[in-house]
Amino acid sequence: MTAGPTAMRALARVNLAAIERNVARMRRELAGGVALCAVVKADGYGHGAQQAARAALAGGATWLAVAAADEAAALRGAGIDAPLLVMGALTPGELAVALHAGADVVAWEEDFVDAVAAHGGGSVHVKLDSGMGRLGTRDPAQATRVAEAAAGAANVRLAGAMTHFATADERGDAFFGEQLERFAAWAQPLRSAHPQIALHAANSAATLRDGAAHFDLVRLGVSIYGLDPFGEDPLARELEPALELSSYVAALKALAPGESAGYGRRFVAERATHTATLPIGYGDGVRRGLTNNADVLIGGRRLALVGTVSMDNVTVDAGASPVVACGDEAVLIGTQGDERITAEEVARRLETINYEVTCGLLARVPRVYHRDGEPA
Ligand SMILES: Cc1ncc(COP(=O)(O)O)c(C=O)c1O
Repeated sequence: MTAGPTAMRALARVNLAAIERNVARMRRELAGGVALCAVVKADGYGHGAQQAARAALAGGATWLAVAAADEAAALRGAGIDAPLLVMGALTPGELAVALHAGADVVAWEEDFVDAVAAHGGGSVHVKLDSGMGRLGTRDPAQATRVAEAAAGAANVRLAGAMTHFATADERGDAFFGEQLERFAAWAQPLRSAHPQIALHAANSAATLRDGAAHFDLVRLGVSIYGLDPFGEDPLARELEPALELSSYVAALKALAPGESAGYGRRFVAERATHTATLPIGYGDGVRRGLTNNADVLIGGRRLALVGTVSMDNVTVDAGASPVVACGDEAVLIGTQGDERITAEEVARRLETINYEVTCGLLARVPRVYHRDGEPA
């Protein structure tokens, strides 16, 4: 039997209504007046930046953030004109691109403020490194000098003061509170001097963990895609996974005991069985670490992925009297019948985080957008 007309080799279905609802759900955590910035870097964590941005804005986000200048330019190119922050480090060329896109940028050195001014001006958020140890200055006095430089430059606007938490997703650790205190001690007096600035620190985990971290704006990535910031079941926090990854059964093969499937013969049948071949592989972002280490849903059942994940195919043990047929849909992330495979489950198998699972879906996988099943 061949595949039906709706079978797709590899497909990521993204429910934009779920993103909208996740944003609305996260807004319920926020006191009135706290704004929500949707983080749509890395192509919206693999979901599609422009589509995710529009859905997030429809759900109540009023800001967008990306990591790179080109990501900002792409959003503007798509006609998205919401306030936009480029959070990452910028080379002079990238700074020009970000400012040309009308995006706000992040500064922690006075030279950088000079460069913004020299490029014709723009809006600057000053970053204190309160403990993440990546970008920003560790020195509150320097951060204040940078802020004053921005406030004092004719064509530069001091728009914000920010930091980023290292351990917000590790509940119960004390470091989160120390970072929060360090940031508040620097940023609150700065805001007294410059009442128009927005203070922001919290990612998804911090937002769910502690209202004291919300300040004026929260920067939410993972949660708006319905992924759990603590790596647990998203549904338990009323987050709805927006992305499903599927393929189909392209071939079904009887294996006698001793016969094998895939490179390196990493699966050798111990009993008579069948393998179903799904034409999706690490060339799509299904990581090779899932070799003999994942389940797939076919016909509403969980079946074991067996053998080596190759670039374009994986194989699944379909049993002695095969319970699947060629053309059947196979779900690698998502729901079928009563069964569910989350990005968190895949992440646990790979000893990584859900972020990496969806960000790791490659461009070869078409993204198809819908709203609760209706074409979007
Ligand atoms: C500076 C900054 N803020 C906010 C976020 C959003 O974090 P999350 O996806 O955990 O909500 C990120 C993402 O890594 C980030 O780098």
